[in-house]
Amino acid sequence: MGRYEDAFRRSMDAPETFWAQAAEAIDWYRAPNQVLDGSNPPFYRWYPDGELNTCHNALDRHVAAGRGGQAALIYDSPVTGSQRSYTYEQLRDEVARFAGVLAGLGVGKGDRVVIYLPMVPEAAIAMLACARIGAVHSVVFGGFAAHELAVRIDDAEPTAIVSASCGIEGTRVIEYKPLLDRAIELSEHKPKRCVMLQRPQARAELTDRDIDWDEAMASAQPAGCVPVSATDPLYVLYTSGTTGRPKGVVRDNGGHAVALRWSMANIYDISPGDVFFTASDVGWVVGHSYIVYAPLLTGATTVLYEGKPVGTPDAGQFWRVISEHGAKAMFTAPTAFRAIKKEDPVGEHAARYDLSRFRVLFLAGERLDPDTYQWAADLLGIPVIDHWWQTETGWPIVANHMGLEPLPVKPGSPTVPVPGYDVHILTADGEQAPAGTEGAIAIKLPLPPGTLPTVWGDDDRFVESYLTRFPGYYHTGDGGLIDSDGYVFVMGRTDDVINVAGHRLSTGSMEEVLGGHPQVAECAVIGVADDMKGQVPHGLVVLKSGADIGEEQLRDELVALVRDQIGAVAAFKQVSVVPALPKTRSGKILRKTLRGIADGAEDPVPSTIDDATVLDTLRPLLRRGI
Ligand code: COA
Ligand code: AMP
Repeated sequence: MGRYEDAFRRSMDAPETFWAQAAEAIDWYRAPNQVLDGSNPPFYRWYPDGELNTCHNALDRHVAAGRGGQAALIYDSPVTGSQRSYTYEQLRDEVARFAGVLAGLGVGKGDRVVIYLPMVPEAAIAMLACARIGAVHSVVFGGFAAHELAVRIDDAEPTAIVSASCGIEGTRVIEYKPLLDRAIELSEHKPKRCVMLQRPQARAELTDRDIDWDEAMASAQPAGCVPVSATDPLYVLYTSGTTGRPKGVVRDNGGHAVALRWSMANIYDISPGDVFFTASDVGWVVGHSYIVYAPLLTGATTVLYEGKPVGTPDAGQFWRVISEHGAKAMFTAPTAFRAIKKEDPVGEHAARYDLSRFRVLFLAGERLDPDTYQWAADLLGIPVIDHWWQTETGWPIVANHMGLEPLPVKPGSPTVPVPGYDVHILTADGEQAPAGTEGAIAIKLPLPPGTLPTVWGDDDRFVESYLTRFPGYYHTGDGGLIDSDGYVFVMGRTDDVINVAGHRLSTGSMEEVLGGHPQVAECAVIGVADDMKGQVPHGLVVLKSGADIGEEQLRDELVALVRDQIGAVAAFKQVSVVPALPKTRSGKILRKTLRGIADGAEDPVPSTIDDATVLDTLRPLLRRGI
């Protein structure tokens, strides 16, 4: 039996022994006696009587162990032309001081703090400062506009917000302050204070509610680490679901620390002292787990990169970062590689840098198409590892375990289930699908440590969204198959979630916006194939009778509305006016059918559709991008 097979078996046969051993890599104030509390299914709790502090494990313990002088975080920002490096000792001191700022504003254990920041070190500092005092952070991605921010403020009810005067997108400066002010105006819940980081590219006008980051830091007393229960929440991260209302995925402290530490050694093959470069954003789960927490819990060096893979200044920035900082592994989304490939198809930029220390490229966030896989593998001559996971799990479900035992790569498959995840393919009736047959990907409960214990403030929604469709299983929302070698193939979402440039978005929330236009009678938003972004949203709208508006004007207005309400990140640019939408006899729009057409299915038309001509009109529109 190989090392992977052995670890996987042990995690299935004796999960409590397996995860008790993994927990030994973490510093506990009170080591857990109980590993798993399964007394209240379908709610499971890992390490219920353990006590720890995540920030202590990420910073203080490494300083105490003699790593104080090692780089903990390297900020590399081609868009501002700056770089800054923090040793473990410096980062601990900054975090302790900012924890003091938060405590001084009345933020205590269990209180929420919304963080709306671009890719600057202060984002990681604010997250770790919350962890230090037992507060719960909720980071909102900077590409979301005021309305989306307001929805999250109302759900998380933060005591304070941490933000910045601006973000930088290529050569454009995006002012955050007007978005933040508008969000607070829109939200019912009003945070007491906002800490504002002033960036020189655009300074914000502060009001009575605002406090300047630098001034607050100058007078703050450093705060120590507060012991929290392993089951206390570390953060809430909102993610798109089927409806317009985002779900607050809760992450606990204990299971999260154990799982991430295990993943760094066994999946990513990263040891203390190694340099790890994840190009994502702290606003997404990849950023939470693999820019901030996992590398620091490991005592590695993390690179926090502010910029795009292409554009400012060129398509060689990833190679420059890897070479300059000596990264052993990099992690990003396939879309970033498609962007580089488009601009530099023969890899001229890569040839200019010394990439000899670069050992593995990890890709996730969307399906890794075989072309992109092959291009990256040929260019780099190192393993290119696809792996599959979700905001809900916080760490990989299916991967090739580079630390444990690398397995042969099969392009199109993220390889095999990670220990702890009992992955099944189920038919629509909840039966086990035979090997090689496509079905719903579900994970038998309990999920391993680090995965979501519930939805913030809404246990019922947790059960209804994930645990009801297939009782006894977590319903991932992805479809796929497992082949006869046990390799998992993930084909894509089976619900109304789409993946645009590695960003997870809800078509439901876009439909809410389109439906608000005075001339629109009804609408559907579907993801259609896009060479660069994988998928982009396409709006199908039926006009009200007597509506008087040109198609171009309507498109401009709808695009502007989505940009204003959801944000530029929705990348909503395509609109088609259609005479009708296919519906069931009871009047429900057949979204699944529309998705099927967009995906190129041969004959996805169910017999319930009376008017096949509606579909004949839609087919060429939806297949335009294929
Ligand atoms: N703040 C403000 N605006 C933002 C933003 C942010 N943090 N992030 C994105 N946007 C804007 C972009 O500027 C763009 O605006 P535009 O329509 O005015 O040009 C829009 O949102 C769409 O952004 P995006 O989909 O990222 O497209 P892009 O053309 O700017 O970049 C890629 C495309 C592929 C280069 C980029 O998406 C990328 O690097 N993705 C891979 C890495 C990643 O972040 N993955 C996420 C999870 S792993
Ligand atoms: P997010 O919650 O933003 O991480 O998005 C999770 C979704 O992205 C999953 O449900 C999948 O649909 C998709 N996804 C992530 N990684 C992969 C992968 N390696 N292959 C296919 N789809 C993926």
